[in-house]
This record gives sequence, C-alpha cells and structure tokens, in this order.
Amino acid sequence: MKTILITGGAGFIGANFIHYIIEKDLNIINFDKLTYAGNLENLKNIEKRKNYTFIKGDICNKELVEHVFATYKPEMVVNFAAESHVDRSIHNPNIFIETNVMGTANLLNIAKKFWQNDFSNKRFLQVSTDEVYGTLPENNTEIMFTEETPLQPHSPYSASKTGADCVVQSYFDTFEFPTLITRCSNNYGAYQFPEKLIPLIIHKAMNNEKLPVYGDGKNIRDWLYVEDHCDAIWTVLEKGNIGEVYNVGGNNEIQNIVIVKTILNILNKPESLITYVTDRLGHDRRYAIDASKIKKELGWSPKFTFEEKIRETIQWYLNHQDWVNNVISGDYQKWLKINY
Ligand code: NAD
Ligand code: TYD
Repeated sequence: MKTILITGGAGFIGANFIHYIIEKDLNIINFDKLTYAGNLENLKNIEKRKNYTFIKGDICNKELVEHVFATYKPEMVVNFAAESHVDRSIHNPNIFIETNVMGTANLLNIAKKFWQNDFSNKRFLQVSTDEVYGTLPENNTEIMFTEETPLQPHSPYSASKTGADCVVQSYFDTFEFPTLITRCSNNYGAYQFPEKLIPLIIHKAMNNEKLPVYGDGKNIRDWLYVEDHCDAIWTVLEKGNIGEVYNVGGNNEIQNIVIVKTILNILNKPESLITYVTDRLGHDRRYAIDASKIKKELGWSPKFTFEEKIRETIQWYLNHQDWVNNVISGDYQKWLKINY
C-alpha cells in the first residue's frame, strides 16, 4: 500500500480530496496546522479509518516534517496547505509568504532529502491556482490562461503562490525532482470557509444580512465543482508527466453579480440584500482557464454542471448551519470587524 502525505487536508479542497481518495488502496497522512481555515469536523466520518492518520503541524516546521517523512515514508505528497484568501493577504501578506513560499520550500527540501536515492515512483504535486497568471481582458473572451501564459500575479496571495510554483519547478529543472503542478480556477462545494464568495453569500442571505459585492460586481471567475478538482488532481498524480504544469478549469465563466443573484433566486431571497461596497485593492477582472492540455493528454474534463452543483452546494450549507456557525466563531468575527 502506498503512503500519500496530504498537507492542508483539514481545509476545503484538502478535506474533499481525502474523502475522494479514502476508498483507494492508500495509506493517507493528513498534516495540517489547523489555522482558522482547518477544521477536523470536515473529516469526522473517516477519522477512525485504518488507512487514515492526522498529524497537527506546520509545513514550515523542519523537525516535525522530517519526523513525518522518517516515520511514515510517504511516496507521494499533495501540497494543499496554504493561506488561501486574497482579502486576508491584502491585510497581512507576511503569513502568506511564510506558509505558501517558505513552507513549500521546506516540504521540497525534506522530500528531496528522504527521496534522494530513488525518485522513481515518487510524486510531489503542488496545488496551485489560475491567479498566478494575473488577469484577463473582459471584452475578449477568446483569450484564456494556458500553461504558457506568463506568470503575472497581482495580490500578495497570488504572488506567494507564484513564488511557490517557481521554487517547485526549479526543483525539477535543477534536480530532476519529481514535481507536478496543477493550476485550478475558483472552486465551490461543501466545507468551504464562509469568507469566500459563494459560502459567504449563502450564509448571509440565509440570515437576511447585506451581501457585499465588490466594485461593479462584473468581475469574472471560472467556477469548478470541488469534486471535479479532486478528480483532476488524482488524474495528474496517476498519469501526469513529471515536471509538467496542468491547468484545471470548469469552462464556466460567470460574473460575481450573476452568482449572487443565482443564489438569491434559489434561496427565494430579495435582491435588495445586495450591497455594492468599495472594490478590493488590485482586484483582478477576469480569470478563464484553457484546460485543453489536461483533456488532450490525460483525458480529464469536468463531470458536473454548475446548475446542478450550485443547488446541491446551497442545500449542503442549509443542512450544515451548525458547521457554519462553528467555523465562523472566533477568528472570523475579528476578521469581519477589520473588513466591513
Ligand atoms: P483553505 O484555506 O480552505 O485550507 C487550507 C488548509 O491549509 C487549512 O486546513 C489550514 O489549516 C492549512 N494550513 C494553512 N497553513 C498551514 C501550514 N503552515 N502548515 C500546515 N497546514 C496549513 O484552502 P483551500 O481553498 O482548500 O485551498 C487549498 C489549496 O488549493 C491552496 O493551496 C490554494 O492556493 C489552492 N487553490 C484553491 C482554490 C479555491 O478556489 N479555493 C482554487 C485553486 C487553488
Ligand atoms: P473569492 O471567493 O475571495 O475568490 P478569489 O478572490 O480567489 O477569486 O472572490 C471571488 C470573487 O468575488 C472576486 O472577484 C471577489 C468577489 N467578492 C465579492 O464581491 N464580495 C465578497 O464578499 C467576496 C468574499 C468576494
């Protein structure tokens, strides 16, 4: 049985990924610092599985990560661990540089040290984002991000993810270390922290609170259901060519205001809740992913439609109001005071 080290597995995508792989013939080690965004409730129903182990820790901690490698001898690493919220990165960039850049470098160094005698059958997959490419013009929908698009990040978050990607790629170029990088568009689904657009709007609309829409609301994101992302990551782990980058997207560009109105419509809530607020600093206008490489080379494409999964996602948050109230207590309340 192979051992896979998942970092950040208590967060949104990491937890969904662990659910996605739990039935596979794998020994799963989840290593997570449990920041405000990490929540073991997300894994409650699998915590007793024999093939699952949780370790609380920081990817920047050299001794502890070395201990994990020495003890569990993972052959694969999937690095989800990150500070992930753009607005927070504008308020406090430093932790983004520490975790996203330095933490990734620490993981690479330790994996390289433990794997150095034999890179065959080893995989280090860096979970990255389309935001590393910067922004696209909204009036030319034929232009999309490809893997060849130059990296031009704008926010401290995307800059830190770009830094990490460059370090990861350099380990392949320099040492032939077995890297893979996936760059995905915006995800939605269960277990997403309600600071991100979709769960935030669902939560506030359910409580008849004002819905903050930044700027003119016409910024465009490409939305992908989280399970499709998990499937893409697994496909790249299994079939991807070492040293390569794979874009992952939903071919599903939607303006923010359309997302907000769609949620209100499904919840049967009035549009008068919408409140236009001051725009995010350096707000990227449009993201759009050309995912033809992963489709052509690895046969991956999204399985789910937005129309189907947004309804299911809203229902999930309606059914899990205790989860929402639990994760937004504490740190989130402080954050709201700074932000709105
Ligand atoms: P998240 O914020 O929900 O979860 C991040 C997890 O990492 C949390 O469990 C947190 O406790 C953990 N973590 C943070 N710092 C850590 C550290 N120093 N050491 C160990 N664990 C730490 O994020 P997410 O939305 O699940 O994103 C996961 C990854 O996917 C990130 O790398 C993000 O950049 C990338 N990504 C996210 C999206 C998206 O739409 N959410 C899209 C593309 C790529
Ligand atoms: P977000 O979910 O933070 O993801 P990202 O910034 O990584 O794309 O935001 C998605 C879009 O929604 C982005 O254009 C910013 C906008 N937005 C709002 O208009 N209001 C909000 O309260 C939030 C959190 C985001």
